[in-house]
Amino acid sequence: MQGTFAARAQKLQRSELAALFALAEEPGVISFAGGFPDPEWFLPEITEISDRVMRTNRGVALQYGPTPGFTALREFMAARLTGQGMRCSAADVLITSGSLQGLDLVCKIFLEPGDVVLTEAPTYIGALQTFASYEVDIVSVPIDADGMRIDALESLLADIRAGKRAGGRMPKFIYTIPSFQNPSGCTLSLERRRALLRVASRFGVPVVEDHAYAELRYDGADLPALRALDEDDVVIHLGTFSKIFSPGLRLGWMIGPRPVIEKAILFKQGTDQCSNSLGQIMALEYGKRGLIEKQIEVTIASLRKKRDETLKALRAHFGDSVSYTVPQGGFYTWVTFPEGIDTVALLPRAVKEYSVAYVAGPSFYADRSGANQARLCFSQPRVDQIDEGIRRLHACFGARVGQ
Ligand SMILES: Cc1ncc(COP(=O)(O)O)c(C=O)c1O
Repeated sequence: MQGTFAARAQKLQRSELAALFALAEEPGVISFAGGFPDPEWFLPEITEISDRVMRTNRGVALQYGPTPGFTALREFMAARLTGQGMRCSAADVLITSGSLQGLDLVCKIFLEPGDVVLTEAPTYIGALQTFASYEVDIVSVPIDADGMRIDALESLLADIRAGKRAGGRMPKFIYTIPSFQNPSGCTLSLERRRALLRVASRFGVPVVEDHAYAELRYDGADLPALRALDEDDVVIHLGTFSKIFSPGLRLGWMIGPRPVIEKAILFKQGTDQCSNSLGQIMALEYGKRGLIEKQIEVTIASLRKKRDETLKALRAHFGDSVSYTVPQGGFYTWVTFPEGIDTVALLPRAVKEYSVAYVAGPSFYADRSGANQARLCFSQPRVDQIDEGIRRLHACFGARVGQ
């Protein structure tokens, strides 16, 4: 039967991550792998809210809903986003089944096989998987501590326009995670945010902004979203309830240029018809009671402790033999080990023999580079497990690293 699968299905490989996540869930494993919220952050009020919705609004909560989402939630989100400098009305907000669906809808709108998408390198694995299913080529721009290198972006686009790279195929869009990027933890500076928008407008390439972690800042001053700075209407902004409420309820949102939102609604109709009705009602109630803000506070306080503990343990166990990013928010630090370390090859041993898990660097690069790098996600382990987890990692990497 496989012989009759479409070419895009033939090309998709088994997800190494799925196998790893299964292993990482074995009892006793300290996992720095999955980018999951700590269940401790879900507020207890959610039980009462779900009970109440079931008692008073079951007919709506268990029914299909409108494709763009419930108007009351869209209104709530429009007010919230406007408060963050992204002026919009309810009609501009599309509620999605997670921000990953938002990204998939964007792909449906823009991509044909053989097109080019531009990403940061490294970038979010889920996005790379989504792009792969549309049979596109990825070109990428390196990042540093201030996020995407806009000088490199500009020269790449100029080279493409001149026909010197990517076969002269201009990217259909630039995919970026400007705040507390997955996997690097790095944040695009304000100056670079402005520069990115200037470059995108000049070359006529839309920007897809993935805002997954932006509200989880524990150090430094807030930065405006790209969409908030977007005078030329080139930014499609994807947000998610996954990190500020619950990933299990699969809810996100999309705002952006009107024609994009209109097409996205049409594609969503044929994708899943509507997002989770029960979840939308619960999210609205959670939001209206101020519990999203309360959960963010709880999350930030916890993440700050876990970040501090992770960086302290890296320094204590690995000394100067590794470098790592210092995130000001979000879930991740990105570690670079000495040349010659192969994080892919060491991973099965780390999990099976040392009971510690991480995600190996090459998973985050379209060209599978980054062999001596790894993403450590510190959201899930308890604070009192972190030092032990990093100690195990060092023991596993053994004589190959210093200290
Ligand atoms: C950068 C980034 N974008 C999107 C997502 C997916 O979010 P959602 O649960 O809203 O689909 C994640 C989840 O880890 C992420 O890290």
